[in-house]
Amino acid sequence: MALNVEEMSIFCKKKGFVFQSAEIYGGLSGFFDYGPLGVELKNNLKQSWYKYIITNRPNVVAQDGSIITNPKVWKASGHLDNFADLVLTTKKTKTKIRADHFIEEKLKISAEGLKAIDINKLVKENNLTYNGEDFEEVKDFNLMFSTHVGPAADSSNVAYLRPETCQSIFPNFKLIAEVCRQKLPFGIGQIGKAFRNEISPRDFLFRQREFEQMELEFFTHPEETTCVDLVNKHKQLKFQFFSAKAQDANSDAVEMASISELLEKGLLSEWHAYWLAEMYFWYVEELGIKKENIRVREHTKKELSHYSSATFDIDYKFPFGFKEVMGIADRGQYDLQQHMKHSSQKLELFDDASGKSVVPRVIEPSQGLDRLFLAILFEAYEDDKERGNIVLHLNQKLSPYYCAIFPLVKNKPELLAKAEEIYDSLRKKFPCYFDVSGSVGRRYARADEIGVRYCITVDFESLEDNAVTLRDRETTDQERISLEKLQARLFELR
Ligand code: GAP
Repeated sequence: MALNVEEMSIFCKKKGFVFQSAEIYGGLSGFFDYGPLGVELKNNLKQSWYKYIITNRPNVVAQDGSIITNPKVWKASGHLDNFADLVLTTKKTKTKIRADHFIEEKLKISAEGLKAIDINKLVKENNLTYNGEDFEEVKDFNLMFSTHVGPAADSSNVAYLRPETCQSIFPNFKLIAEVCRQKLPFGIGQIGKAFRNEISPRDFLFRQREFEQMELEFFTHPEETTCVDLVNKHKQLKFQFFSAKAQDANSDAVEMASISELLEKGLLSEWHAYWLAEMYFWYVEELGIKKENIRVREHTKKELSHYSSATFDIDYKFPFGFKEVMGIADRGQYDLQQHMKHSSQKLELFDDASGKSVVPRVIEPSQGLDRLFLAILFEAYEDDKERGNIVLHLNQKLSPYYCAIFPLVKNKPELLAKAEEIYDSLRKKFPCYFDVSGSVGRRYARADEIGVRYCITVDFESLEDNAVTLRDRETTDQERISLEKLQARLFELR
């Protein structure tokens, strides 16, 4: 990974992964459109998450909630009152800047969790200005986008675009548990768009105003502290760990820690530990992200979200530093209790063992899809000097195309017809494309650049021996394989 985030955005545009939204009009800050290859890669990431979290588990089901819902949901969740960043406004030109980012850039300190009073003090003590302008007192800026439902546009019908996908799971939780006959512990997962009016969107897909999340709310019995699924594999998992203690001491020290050690120190509950380990395994075993490029960061007490008693992020080593790609939070009973209070409905489940109704606790692994997409691209990208082209070493299950079919030349009708026939049969089985333009070497290079795992070349000999050349992106090795065996071989390699 040698390129910076700006270069990555150019690469993404050039190859059809991601574009600025409405670029012909100058775009709109914080909004992006996924192009044909981006859609494929993003869908593959969603499928991987869906299979890992939902399909493979008998006790996790899915929902697809609406983006706009009753605004009382956001009052109850605390987002209307608490979902804000601090904004600094310059006195003369009224330029608005996200306060914590500004402090971090200017003073090279962590501004995580700083309150308005701390920011005002730092600005004063350090005589901080922006382009020579002084600041007004720092203010809260709520990140939710508002709109109006129905023809009138007044305060009676204000509604919000959801700032997190998970929130609609809580009001539905009892209904879903009952219709799906789920008993604790069980989970509800959801993939969808979320919207935040970020003060300063930046770093390409990293901080956007419209993005996608894949979230799981996992409900456990409030008195059941033992996680039946936490086995040795989880407990022995070791990772780079950036503790709250180190951060509180302004230290950069990252240590190696295991799930067992975190449990022994009482930093998290067993169910929390289980989901942290499960998500870590997904990153490493399913997505193919190298362990050295991820770390687990514990939230300090002062930065915890209003709903969380403990949060651990998985950070990825971007060119702009280790940054959060997912958060695994212990939301306790916060959301269900808030919705019970505001709706006057009982969001409890009957527990056969104790004969009592209980309000479950919740562990939430929350994955931002776009940040993961960006991390996956950085992880895969290599400017291979020996080959003379870029190679995207994507996990083949995530690659937009698994294989590509090339007729050696385009002006030989029998050869073209044979290659087309192969393409027709393969595209019903695997994501693949057909390419006739340029030399085969050039076509290999183009395929490498978008992460295609196998290239299949149909040459003059194919007309005689009914065989093709199969070239592997990772090794560039080529094998000759008969058409009879091709599909089975591709299945075997998948
Ligand atoms: N439901 C909990 C929640 O939303 P969060 O830490 O605010 O927690 C979860 O967001 C994930 O969503 C983050 O780890 C990140 O991957 C993604 N995310 C958050 N804000 C984002 C933004 N402005 N642009 C892109 N992704 C974002």
